[in-house]
Amino acid sequence: MLISGTPTRTIRRLDDAVEIIDQTRLPYEWTLKRLVTLGDAAEAIAVMRVRGAPLIGATAAYGLVLAALEDAGDAALRTAADRLIATRPTAVNLHWAVQRMLARLLPLPLAGRVEAAWAEASAICEEDVAQNRAIGQHGLELLRAIGAKKAGPINILTHCNAGWLATVDWGTALAPIYAAAEAGLDVHVWVDETRPRNQGASLTAWELGQAGIAHRVIADNAGGHLMQHGKVDICIVGTDRVAANGDVANKIGTYLKALAAFDNGVPFYVAAPGPSIDFNLADGGEIPIEERDPEEVACIQGRAADGQVVSVRLTPAGSAAANPAFDVTPARLITGFITERGVCGAGRAALATMFADRAGVRSR
Ligand code: MRU
Repeated sequence: MLISGTPTRTIRRLDDAVEIIDQTRLPYEWTLKRLVTLGDAAEAIAVMRVRGAPLIGATAAYGLVLAALEDAGDAALRTAADRLIATRPTAVNLHWAVQRMLARLLPLPLAGRVEAAWAEASAICEEDVAQNRAIGQHGLELLRAIGAKKAGPINILTHCNAGWLATVDWGTALAPIYAAAEAGLDVHVWVDETRPRNQGASLTAWELGQAGIAHRVIADNAGGHLMQHGKVDICIVGTDRVAANGDVANKIGTYLKALAAFDNGVPFYVAAPGPSIDFNLADGGEIPIEERDPEEVACIQGRAADGQVVSVRLTPAGSAAANPAFDVTPARLITGFITERGVCGAGRAALATMFADRAGVRSR
C-alpha cells in the first residue's frame, strides 16, 4: 500500500523490535509504535492498536519472537503463547500463527531459536501478502464480470475493515477492489461505519482515500435500503474464522448484511485466506465470540473542533450496554469464498475440495 507515495506495510522488524501503525489513532494521526516486549505485543492486540485477523496473527508471531529474546526456553515460550492466544478469541489466525511458531521453535536447540523465530514470523508475513495478492486477482474476475454487464460504477458494499490495515499488505475483502482500480475498472465502495469501533468509518474510508478509490461511508443500518434500491452490485467482507461447513464469523453486523443481500439477490462473498479457515470446527456454533468492554458501545471517539481526539458518552448514565464483537453468518447466505486458490462455493464440500490437503486433518 502506498502511504503518501511510499510502499508501506502494517508491521515490520526494526532491529530487535517490531514496528506497527497504532490504528487506534487513525484516521486522525499517523502514529508508529515500537513493540519491544511480549507484553507490548499482547497489549497492542488486546486494545486493537493492531486488528484484523491476519495482522493479529502476524503480530502474535512477532510477539513470540520478542518473548524468545527474553527467554527462549520451552516453558517461557509456552507461557507466552498462552498469553497471546488469550488476547482475542475469535480470529483463528492468532491461534494458527502461535501454534506454527511453537511447532517451528520447540524442536530446535535453544541457541537457534531466536533467529528461527524472526525467520518464521517473517515467512508468515510474506505468505499473508502473497495470499492477499492472489485473493485480489481472483476477486477481480468477479468484479470484471459484474462490470461487463452494467453501465456506470461497480458498487461494492463492505463491512468493518478487511483492507490493508487488517493484514500485512493488500487486505482481503479490499484486495479485489485495489486490483480492480489498478485494472482501470470503475469501482465505488459503500463503507459500513461498523459500530461500535467504527473500523469502516475510520479505517476503511481512510485506506480507500489514500488509494484514491471512490467511496461513501454509510450508517450501518443503510445497507438493506441500498440493496432494495439496486445500489449494491456485490458485498465483499472479510472473516475471522470460517468453520468446516462454511459458516463465517466476522465483525458484528455482517450477518444482517448477509440477510439483506440474500433477500435482495445481491451476491455476498467472503474473502478468506487459508489461515482463516478452521477445519477443526464443524460449524459456526463452535466459534468463540469475543465479548468486548461495553464502554465501546456507550462511548464514541472522534476529533473535536479544536483538533483534540476525544471520547464522548452516547448513552444515559444508568443504561447498561453489551458488546458482542462478532457474529456468525450461516453458509447458506454466502454466495462464495474468494480464497488465494480461487473462488469456491460456501458449503462444506466446496471448501473441502478447494483445501483438500487440509480438510479432515485435525491441526490441534
Ligand atoms: O475487531 P477487528 O477490527 O479485529 O475485526 C476485523 C474484522 O472483522 C475483519 O473483517 C476480519 O478480521 C478480516 S480482516 C482481513
